[in-house]
Parts: sequence; C-alpha cells; structure tokens
Amino acid sequence: MKRLAIATLLAATALASPASGADKPLDAKGTWSVTTRGSAPLPPMGWNSWNAFGTDIDEEKVIASAQLIVDSGLAAKGYRYVNIDDGWWAKRRQADGRVLIRTDNFPSARTADGNTSFRPFTDRLHAMGLKAGIYSEIGRNSCGQIYGDPKGPGQPAGTITEREIGLYGHIDQDIALYFGEWNFDYIKVDGCGIRALAADSPQVKSGRLRALDPLIDYDTIPRTNIPAVKALFDQVGEALSRNKPGNDFVLSICLWGSADVRSWARTLGNLSRTSEDISPNWERMLHNLDSASRRELYAKPNSWNDPDMLFIGSGEFDDAHLTEARSHMSLWAMLNAPLIIGFDLRKASPAMMGVLGNAQVIALNQDAAAHQAVLAYDGDSVQIFTKTLADGSKAVALFNRTGSPIDVKLIASHLKYRADQPITLTDLWDGGTQSFTSEMPVHLERHQTLLFKASGTRERAQGLYLSEQPGNVNPAVDGIVHPMADPMVYRGLLPWRSTKADGEHPVYGGWGGARADATPFAQTPKIAGRTYHNAIGTLANSRLEVRNTGFSSFTTLAGIDDSVADPAVRVRFSVHADGKLLKQTGWMKPGDSPATIAVPVKGARIVELVAEGNRPEMQTVAVDWAEAALDR
Ligand code: GLA
Repeated sequence: MKRLAIATLLAATALASPASGADKPLDAKGTWSVTTRGSAPLPPMGWNSWNAFGTDIDEEKVIASAQLIVDSGLAAKGYRYVNIDDGWWAKRRQADGRVLIRTDNFPSARTADGNTSFRPFTDRLHAMGLKAGIYSEIGRNSCGQIYGDPKGPGQPAGTITEREIGLYGHIDQDIALYFGEWNFDYIKVDGCGIRALAADSPQVKSGRLRALDPLIDYDTIPRTNIPAVKALFDQVGEALSRNKPGNDFVLSICLWGSADVRSWARTLGNLSRTSEDISPNWERMLHNLDSASRRELYAKPNSWNDPDMLFIGSGEFDDAHLTEARSHMSLWAMLNAPLIIGFDLRKASPAMMGVLGNAQVIALNQDAAAHQAVLAYDGDSVQIFTKTLADGSKAVALFNRTGSPIDVKLIASHLKYRADQPITLTDLWDGGTQSFTSEMPVHLERHQTLLFKASGTRERAQGLYLSEQPGNVNPAVDGIVHPMADPMVYRGLLPWRSTKADGEHPVYGGWGGARADATPFAQTPKIAGRTYHNAIGTLANSRLEVRNTGFSSFTTLAGIDDSVADPAVRVRFSVHADGKLLKQTGWMKPGDSPATIAVPVKGARIVELVAEGNRPEMQTVAVDWAEAALDR
C-alpha cells in the first residue's frame, strides 16, 4: 500500500517536472480540450423572453409561448429550452442572501414562507416536455439595471445591496438555488456588472448602484483582466457540475466577444456570445453574423459560437420581410448558432412559424457531424458558406448582403466536389431541384439567401480535408499572444448610439485566429508561390487538436505562408498521434517549398499538428497546413 503510494507520488512528480515538459502549451497532449461540463452536443434550440419582451416579463407571457412551441410542433422539431431573461428578480434578501422572485409577475412562485420558488414554474415546463432556462449576471447588477430605465418594469427593488441580484460573491449559493432547488436546466450569465460600474460611471456617481472595479474594458482588450473573468465563469461551471446531476445543464456565456472569450469559451462554457446585442434590423444582423462567421474552428460540440438570439418575426425580419427572415434563419442554421426564438409566438403568422419550423433548415443546424459552415467565398457583397453533413453530402448558402439584386456563380470547388461530375442541388426553402456540372449561375434578390443541400462527387474521394470538418479541428493553442480586435466584422450604425462619437471601431478579439481555407488574416493560403484552396491557416507557435473519426492516414503540405515578410523567421512542423511524435520537419524559412508529411494514424483518437516558431512571440507569422486531409 505504502509502496504504491510512493510510486504514485513519483509518477506524479515526473509528470509535473519541467524536464518532461508536460505542461508546455505546444507539447502534444493526446487529449481533446473542449469542456466536458454541461450538455450541448448540438446547438441548443428554444425560446428566450428578451427579444420579445425586454424586462417586461411575466409567467403568462412565457407559458403562452411555451404552450405554442408545443402545440405548433416546434418542440417536436427540437425547440425545447424555454428561457427567461432579465427582469425576473425582486431582490436579494439580506438576512440570508437568497434571491427572491417578483411574485406579482410570477404568481406560481409565491410560497407560504415568503421564500419564493421557481420550482412550480420549472415543473410545469418539464411536464410540457420542455427544459427551463434562467438568466443571471456575473457581477452584482444586471444589464437591465445598468442600462435600462431604473423606473421601468422588471427592476429589482430595495436598498443598493438588496438590488444586487447578480452572482458576484454568491456563485455557489445562487447556482444551488437555481439548479439544486428550482431545477433549471440552462443558465445565461451576462457580464454588464463587471464592465460598467467603475467609480466614475453615472450609475455609481448618482448613488444608484455600488462600484465594482471593471474587469472588462470592452473597447480595449489589454485593459481587461482576462484571467479574473475566466476564473469567475469557471466557478460558475464548477457550481453547476456540483448542483445538477448527470451534467444535464447548459452554461451560456454572455460576454459579447469581450475579454478574449473567443479563445477560452470552449474550455468553460457551452455557448458564448460573439458580439453585442442583435437588433431587428439588417445591418445589425450582418454585424452579429460576421462576429461568428470566420470563427468556424472555434465552435465545437458542447461549445458553440453564439451570434445572439433570432429576431425573426420583428422589425426587418417580420412578415413584410420574409426574404430577410429566411436569410437570418438560414445563416444561423449554417453557422451552428443556437436557434433561440425571440418573438412573442402569440403574434406569429403561419408564414413566420414556417420560417422557424422549416425542418430541413433545422436539420442543417442539428446535423450530427456538427460542423459550423466554412466560407467558401468571402466578400462584402456576397458570401458563400458550405457545410459538410453527417451523411457525406453538403449544404451551401449563397448570401446577398446588399440591397440590390446580384448575379453570382456557384462553382464545384466551392463544394469541394469534382468539376467534371454532375452536382445536384435541392432548395431547402422551396424544395426545387436542379443539377449542374462545373459551375452554375445564380441570381440572388436583395438580402436573399439561397440554401441548398448538395450532392456530387467528392474531390477527396477517400477522405475529408480538415477544412471540411471544422468541428473536429480544435485550435487548442492558436498562437495569439496579444488578442487583437477583428477588423472583418461589419460595423453598421449601432441603433442605441448615434454619430455623436467618432465611429464604430473593431472591438472583438479574434484577428489572427486559426481558419479553414484562409490564413489567420483572411487571405488565400499560399506557400512558395502556390495557392491552396484546401488548408488550415494558423499562426506559428500553435497546436491544433484533430479528432480522428476512423481515418487511417493523415497527409499535408506544411509551410510558412507567403504573407510572412520577415526572412529571419523559422518554423518547424510536427504531427503527433495520441501524444506520440510521428513526424517532425526541419526548421523552415519563408519561401521554402512546403514539406510533405504523410503518416499513418489508424486507431489514433487525437492527431495533433504543431507549428513551432523560433521566437516566443510570432503573432504575424502565418503558417499553412495545406491540403491537410484524413483518409480512409
Ligand atoms: C445584455 C445581453 C442581452 C440581454 C440583456 C438583458 O444586453 O446581451 O442578450 O440578456 O443584457 O438585460
């Protein structure tokens, strides 16, 4: 017994010793480092009160939409989370710190002892076959309290501390209450309270709310305390694991792309907002779309990019804008975004129910292969997204971002299908089918998205390019040392701001992240003068985890991208299977022809691709795993 203990201790010491290098980020680990906490193997689907009602919520409104979700058949199609957002709380009772519910609006929450409880409410949703979601805040005060009308509906009442209904300082207590006692299944955790309550903020100066030194500087990433923000969300995840049996919960991180959440959400949460709030207008939809559309490698089973909830039914996505509503739905489906309805379903027309309930479009979003769509063609006017499906076929969305009709071409290579064989397309909105070989002219009306399921003969007959399976490629270390704002996100006029400031600037970190079929800086991958349309582009000093779903061999052409200007840069590439080195190149320089790597990976679960640079920081050094593919 004693000997065993010593042996175990020695083994542990060996693992932790620096000589073994076990904790160096670029060392192959043989593991898949996406969170296993919570349960979101596919993008969550459901309904949320915020876009429909703001903080003016009550039980009747929520249950009415829940009932319609069941009665209309939307529940059977997958919409099952019914989530209340901001506005449900009355106050935090000072005697014991318990958060109380606004029982005037949620009468079933009334209890004889005055404790209030959402248990009857969640029981009711569960009895309807649905799941129940609640909303909280990582700081002391919610977004509605900070930015909303203090006299408006849904505001907690009482003294300053009674109005501190957020998780800050109460994570374990609140999560035990919401999940252990009230039996919720899903929580969205917002972050305004750690962003907006500096001592000189209007809310603090007026004496309305207590100061909390901001951890997040929304506009300035280097002034954000990223480790502290992560630590808070980690505590929430731990508390959820402790309080909800069977890992049956969803943690939705709502930091709107700030705090470099792009790089770490996969390790802590089940979905993560990539941008500020959506509004029911076209420009804002573009903004939210762009915040997620070039992050195809950062969405994974159990952790999804969240460009915010659907606004279908309202404003520029209402009945008079069916084209726009369908585009919004098509794009969110292709991006594997959570499909969370934000509309008062009592007002939904049959046409709107048809948009939300299109089973073929939902099937793309919920496809078992779980790959976010990749940009096969990227531009300001038109974008073409493709998505590899579990049955081996593809989906393709041709999207006209502009306000005028436009004629475009779909070519076989967008789909990675052979140009000399016929390709069949089925329109997922009108059911029509057509075939083409090589290329097809497509007319798009203003704001229109044509969405097809496609079948053809694969270019890569025996396997899949890695860029066709982004859900299986995880940039565990993407080489970004200093997060930089992403200039590729459309910056329309924010509805709640005006032109009184000096403009909309890039804010969300993410520039330089790993990409499918592009370099980290949105160029076509190019090595030694040759361009590659199939590649994973990343930075030097990166490590990609690749999940092997039954393939036997891995091949690639690895090299430094021609965009690298510094001739002194050196990078060497290595490939590992389940933590064991299979192949390492020598140190390569810019302009070198790519190194051919072909290794057997049969039986290996995780293949790792490491690009090691000759300096500790190489944030502008793009490298390509060109033609990277797994074959049978
Ligand atoms: C933030 C979030 C929204 C919503 C509101 C509620 O703005 O991003 O989705 O939850 O708070 O106040």
